[in-house]
Amino acid sequence: MDDNSLTNYLKAQKKLKQISETTLLELFSPLLKTEQETLIQNILSIEVKYFLKQKACFSQEPPIIPDIKSYKSLTPSGSEEKCQLGLKAASSGKCGAILIAGGQGSRLGHAGPKGTFPITPVFHKSLFQIFCERVKQASEKANYDLPLAIMTSPSNDSLTRRFFAQHQYFGLKESQISFFVQSQIPLLDFEGHLFLNEKKQIAQGPDGNGNLFKEFKKQGLLKEWTDRGIEYLNLVLVDNPLADPYDFELFGELITSQADLSMKTCPRLSPKEKVGIIVSQHKKPIVIEYHEIPNTAHFNEEPAANLGLFALTSAFANQCASLELPLHKVPRKALRFDFEVQKVIQPLKPNCWKFEAYLFDIFPYSTKSTVISYQREKIFCPLKNKEGDFSPNSVRKSLTAIGIQ
Ligand code: UTP
Repeated sequence: MDDNSLTNYLKAQKKLKQISETTLLELFSPLLKTEQETLIQNILSIEVKYFLKQKACFSQEPPIIPDIKSYKSLTPSGSEEKCQLGLKAASSGKCGAILIAGGQGSRLGHAGPKGTFPITPVFHKSLFQIFCERVKQASEKANYDLPLAIMTSPSNDSLTRRFFAQHQYFGLKESQISFFVQSQIPLLDFEGHLFLNEKKQIAQGPDGNGNLFKEFKKQGLLKEWTDRGIEYLNLVLVDNPLADPYDFELFGELITSQADLSMKTCPRLSPKEKVGIIVSQHKKPIVIEYHEIPNTAHFNEEPAANLGLFALTSAFANQCASLELPLHKVPRKALRFDFEVQKVIQPLKPNCWKFEAYLFDIFPYSTKSTVISYQREKIFCPLKNKEGDFSPNSVRKSLTAIGIQ
């Protein structure tokens, strides 16, 4: 080892001691020099403070959220006045949309970013194409080139950018589109330890959509948009082809209610449906994710689904950029390098925990938030799984039912 490699090795060794993961050192000696260097760089990129937060989350059950009641103050959708108000704000350059596309899409198992999945039943348009076409239509209506920022992750960023460039930004001007990248953090096996997904690579996954505003600010976009006069942001998740990046009614709701956050909901199909619920805490709407919903009759009856559709003010987004949100753990399947057989193993069932910060954990920090109820068929049919509910087949059926080809 030369001096530089030795220094890095010693730093990596120190870091592994700090996070009690020294067994990883045993894997070093059989590796080639270049492989060792990659692994060392991987170890050095681990942020100790955040990793210890992951370990704490690993060993704890999700906290019981106190003072929960049903959320009853739903505003019905269908206000033409709000639509007009939203359109006026967009026409004067006060609105922006963010497409959240940093997820791994591991359940869907599509080779490539989820947004590239050809989802419409007849024309096989990708999710990205659908959203861009909606931004184009909204821009024509508003007579203003509306912007779209896309959050990617280190593993899908270059593929996503390439897809947009190859398709000439689906009719949008290149200047309307910006990209920013979220971070990745290690996955932990069911014993709570780091593992490798290739001989020299620590298994990692995107750190959830909750650090969106942190990255949006850090990468300069929040300032750029605020300087341009953008006061209102609408967020959509890449996996819901019915989400509208420029939902004028939701912008209008945010403006009229003078809230810092407005969201859309629709009824859950059943207590078994894998969607989070919107409930009330201290008279404000908050979300409990589906796998953390306590199994009691009271929660089973909660009807309002969290659809991940919401708009907020840029001022509140700025405030959210400095929040330290909690982590949540989700079981996932991930490739694992087995040193005994010297092979990458593809698991058949979940074999690790992924740790994520969730965007909806910003909700309790708003001073005022409102919820509009919509018809489910028009706004929600997410693509999550390979088969069954929320799969390409079920999504295509929902799209066909409302005439999307
Ligand atoms: P999900 O958590 O439902 O799905 O993301 P996923 O991560 O895409 O896929 P799985 O869980 O591995 O199967 C909901 C939304 O949040 C985004 C996704 O892109 C999707 O729009 N997301 C999720 C991120 O942007 N970053 C993340 O780290 C996680």
